[in-house]
Amino acid sequence: MADQSVDLIYADPPFNTGQRRTLQTLRTVRDEQGGDRVGFQGRRYRTLRLGSSSYLDVFDDYLSFLSPRFVEFRRVLKDSGTLYVHLDSREVHYCKVLLDSIFGRSCFLNEVIWAYDYGGRPRRRWPAKHDNILVYVRDPRRYYFDPEGAERIPYMAPGLVGPSKAARGKRLTDTWWATIVPTNGKERTGYPTQKPLAVLRRIVRTSSPRGGLVADFFAGSGTCGIASHEADRNFLLVDDNPEAVRVMARRFEGVQGVQYEGFSPRS
Ligand SMILES: C[S@@+](CC[C@H](N)C(=O)[O-])C[C@H]1O[C@@H](n2cnc3c(N)ncnc32)[C@H](O)[C@@H]1O
Repeated sequence: MADQSVDLIYADPPFNTGQRRTLQTLRTVRDEQGGDRVGFQGRRYRTLRLGSSSYLDVFDDYLSFLSPRFVEFRRVLKDSGTLYVHLDSREVHYCKVLLDSIFGRSCFLNEVIWAYDYGGRPRRRWPAKHDNILVYVRDPRRYYFDPEGAERIPYMAPGLVGPSKAARGKRLTDTWWATIVPTNGKERTGYPTQKPLAVLRRIVRTSSPRGGLVADFFAGSGTCGIASHEADRNFLLVDDNPEAVRVMARRFEGVQGVQYEGFSPRS
């Protein structure tokens, strides 16, 4: 894909990459022109691969899967572009450090907490009921962000803010309450890791312009594409699992102008 061609990337990566666990030994050297990482005071560095050896650290494996993809995501984002990476509390800290090194700390915009209330409640710890979504921008001076893109929500104590404010509602913060995809609702596709449209609508409408291009390279059931299509954005969905592409094709049945590559919607 061309450099700087995408307005918004949403990434909901698989945790279990299924790859062989190989430790890459890396070294970085200063390179202001062609560097793929940003360090202290915005200095750029190029990564050199020195060799590899087998090991058992699942997080290093995970990060070595994600790292080259994050580098490409940054490359294809426009100056006004934004990346959302959907993670959970076990992975988010590792990915934050990795993304800081690729985008630069000054390009970190938010950590959105998506809180839900579903599933069991173990008695030996606080039941984990949230996901973490890291938000990075390509350029902190130029990124697109429409604060009115997402719906408003009711005040908790409307009596304290006056009738007109109470009627208008308040803007969302970085903590979002939204239910998971209901198990028997019409939105449900059957794809196991499907995310709710309510979450993707907020992301797409706030962080991409109408007519812009939204890309999801771990698209699963295509939720990000549905949210983009509804809001008049163009979309590019990629998944290496043929079942995911079949689910997406079913979801987009009857939608004009959808093109497929490496897949026939009638198969
Ligand atoms: C967590 S799911 C995404 C779910 C999606 N957000 C939705 O709402 O349905 C991650 C997806 O990444 C896909 N995937 C795994 N490895 C991949 C790879 N190397 N390239 C592209 N897709 C991959 C999986 O097939 C899976 O559908």
